[in-house]
Amino acid sequence: MRATTAVAFFLGALQATAIPTGLTSVDDYIEAESAIALEQLLCNIGADGCNAAGAAAGYVIASPSTADPDYFFTWTRDSALVFKTLTEYFASHDYDPALQKKIEEYIISQAKLQAVSNPSGGLLDGSGLGEAKFHADATQFTGAWGRPQHDGPPLRAIAGMSYAKWLIANGYPATAQEIVWPVVRNDLAYTAQYWNETGFDLWEEVKGASFFTTIAQYRALVEGSEVAAALKTTCKACDEIAPQILCFLQSYWNEDGYIVSNIETNVDRTGKDGNSILGSIHSYDPRLGCDAHTFQPCSDKALANHKAVVDTFREWPINAAAPAGTAVGVGRYIEDIYYEGNPWYLITLASAEQLYDALNVWEAQGSLTVTPTSLPFFTDLVEGVKVQEYKAGTADYEAITSAVGTYADGFVNVVSTYMQSNGSLAEQFDKATGKPLSARDLTWSYASFLTAAAARNNVRSPDFGWLAKKPKVPCHCKATTANGAYVEATKTTFPPSQTPGGDETITSSIPEPTSTVCLSRVTFNVLIETVWGDSIVVVGDIEELGNGDISQAKPLSADNYTAENPLWSFKVAVPAGASFKYHFVKVKEDGTIIEEAGPEREYEASDECNSTGETGGAWQN
Ligand code: NOJ
Ligand code: NOJ
Repeated sequence: MRATTAVAFFLGALQATAIPTGLTSVDDYIEAESAIALEQLLCNIGADGCNAAGAAAGYVIASPSTADPDYFFTWTRDSALVFKTLTEYFASHDYDPALQKKIEEYIISQAKLQAVSNPSGGLLDGSGLGEAKFHADATQFTGAWGRPQHDGPPLRAIAGMSYAKWLIANGYPATAQEIVWPVVRNDLAYTAQYWNETGFDLWEEVKGASFFTTIAQYRALVEGSEVAAALKTTCKACDEIAPQILCFLQSYWNEDGYIVSNIETNVDRTGKDGNSILGSIHSYDPRLGCDAHTFQPCSDKALANHKAVVDTFREWPINAAAPAGTAVGVGRYIEDIYYEGNPWYLITLASAEQLYDALNVWEAQGSLTVTPTSLPFFTDLVEGVKVQEYKAGTADYEAITSAVGTYADGFVNVVSTYMQSNGSLAEQFDKATGKPLSARDLTWSYASFLTAAAARNNVRSPDFGWLAKKPKVPCHCKATTANGAYVEATKTTFPPSQTPGGDETITSSIPEPTSTVCLSRVTFNVLIETVWGDSIVVVGDIEELGNGDISQAKPLSADNYTAENPLWSFKVAVPAGASFKYHFVKVKEDGTIIEEAGPEREYEASDECNSTGETGGAWQN
């Protein structure tokens, strides 16, 4: 019933006014669109989501769009952010068993997905957890892609822990310990082991270090230590590695007063990127106040960065008429060429959310402080602002916070102006015409609407947050990592009807698993001249090579291919001492398959743990 009224409301509102102004209409819009966002978001989750036919239970498709672009896949990042949102929604609203069932299905789906061997690797050494996307039926995607992406595992750990915290708070700690924690633990182990290796950023384009990824890694490990303790276990790697990630996180800030979102790369960009705004809102904890080391939304660094990033998009046609200090459509980064570069709903909403978060903290602490770093941000909004503390209750404080609130609401108004008239949110909207573009009904867009709305209404569950007090940054950064132990989570049935008020107790503490696997890392090389559009894959009679099934073959990378040395390669961990047969296969752009001539190649991996080896050679004609 709610949804029907909402749609009706919308059409009316849109006809009446293009950009609704005044608090009341934003309130109404938020209420109406929240209902639509929740409904549409659920439509994109298998098995019974109305737009997700073919997706298995608990799997989130990024969008129902199957062509231009094809987003009918499940991304670890998108899914984790969606379930972080849903779990927070669940925990801050009246108990809803249907939503709880979805959350349980997500946890179970991810337990299974963690064990699916894929082009990034497998669970043996954790490497497969860095795979970014899978088919919606939970099988591996073997096409070329930006691999690995290190933000998926920490984000999934954070999503899982948010439900673990609900279970603990509501009397089901044993369920959290036995069913949820084994999934979370693998992702924390991955984070502690691989955080210092380069990977692709959240936009899947740049290999290097990414602010969004690093801050998610830090948050996950800090929260990991805390949740481990509550579940009578430990995460020693979390304790040990988290401070080093925080140390590294500081290096994204630059002297020009903003966060450089991609570092340790050679891309030619300013580094001003919605990446950093997303990083800030997803590690918001009101208890941290305006701490700048964790880039809290109200910190001077995060506010200066907000201005730096948002201002880069003011040159776009639909933004050009908006004066400084008023909201615009915000995109990924100004140099973006994906769909020629446009504003994204989810980043525009994140730009609002950061400011709502800031307002909530200032309100709670009864003051706000303008520093030389954040002064330009405030000057755009209110004339004559000075570097000083403003106490709640004063006219100046009221003027500043009300201007920030209006600015934040402005981003929501931009979304309401350019959404589809029935409330649907795609991925992007055209920078010249404002028309929705790219994937329709993007699940992440809806999740972003819900989190921005929760921030505006300041409704958060009691367990919202992850770090009770400001952390200390180590004086010297060390790139310490910890090799993890990875164990498939096999307990995947939740007890029925876990309504609030359970009486479970944890009977015994659980030791951390220790690694018993002995692995050898094998690099497969083949020399073959190819033309644009060709890809090379390898298939063999072990699981890591697709068990002889060509549809499960692993793609090689042409990163080091040159005309003189036409090299394709692939690296994977196999059990030490494994012996197997394999061959290479060429796949042409139109799908034609050309198998290497026989006999099958044979290889026996070294039986020494942590050894490396190489195999392959010239293509056999
Ligand atoms: C798909 C990715 O998801 C998107 O972020 C990227 O811009 C395009 N591929 C082009 O690389
Ligand atoms: C492209 C975006 O760049 C990426 O962040 C996202 O994961 C995929 N689309 C799927 O939504």
